[in-house]
Amino acid sequence: MKSKLLAFNWKSNKTKYEAKIWLIETSSVESKENLEVVVFPPFTLLDTMSGYTRVNSLPFQIGAQDISPFNSGAFTGEVSGEQIKEFADYVIIGHSERRTNFLEDKEIINKKIEQALENELKIILCISKLEELPDRDLSKIVIAYEPLNSIGNNNPADLETVVNFSKVIKSKGDIKVIYGGSVSAENVKKYLDQEIIDGVLVGGESLDPKSFINIIQNAI
Ligand code: PGA
Repeated sequence: MKSKLLAFNWKSNKTKYEAKIWLIETSSVESKENLEVVVFPPFTLLDTMSGYTRVNSLPFQIGAQDISPFNSGAFTGEVSGEQIKEFADYVIIGHSERRTNFLEDKEIINKKIEQALENELKIILCISKLEELPDRDLSKIVIAYEPLNSIGNNNPADLETVVNFSKVIKSKGDIKVIYGGSVSAENVKKYLDQEIIDGVLVGGESLDPKSFINIIQNAI
């Protein structure tokens, strides 16, 4: 069986204290063959999360939710790829919440992709429609298909829509496609059972330790 990617995006949630409780409550989670699990905390928690998972050999990796479009330098408020790479293996780029709230366009997103590639970070690029697909080699990039009306409102996309979208993307090359939007312990297997869907991106349900464990348990 092909391995599947389970990505958990905490968004702008959790203090250091809350993250430590989450780590303690999820430390019983067992690794599963064919599953790659990555947790994406906010920048403030990358150090804590990566240190704890490494020291305690927890079966998941850590990723960042965003990356600066620039190298390290005079860019107040930005976190560069070089800085992220100290703590994380993955980065999410182009989440719809960034496209909407921070007006990220194709140009910025392409710069972020360049920075991630230069720093050897694995990329999950979120798109909600085909037009958002960048015109470049996508073989090193995981595409997360996240329809806008499925994000954060308990309205998972129907399987046929996700399968059809994945087919279109994969017709362009050997590209990994995952699905995101209202994924839960109840519906995760439905998506992952499809050969063509390479994983899921989970938002809200990653915050609760029990849901996180249940999603991994139910995944395959
Ligand atoms: P959700 O978020 O699981 O809360 O719908 C998904 C996402 O925004 O990636």
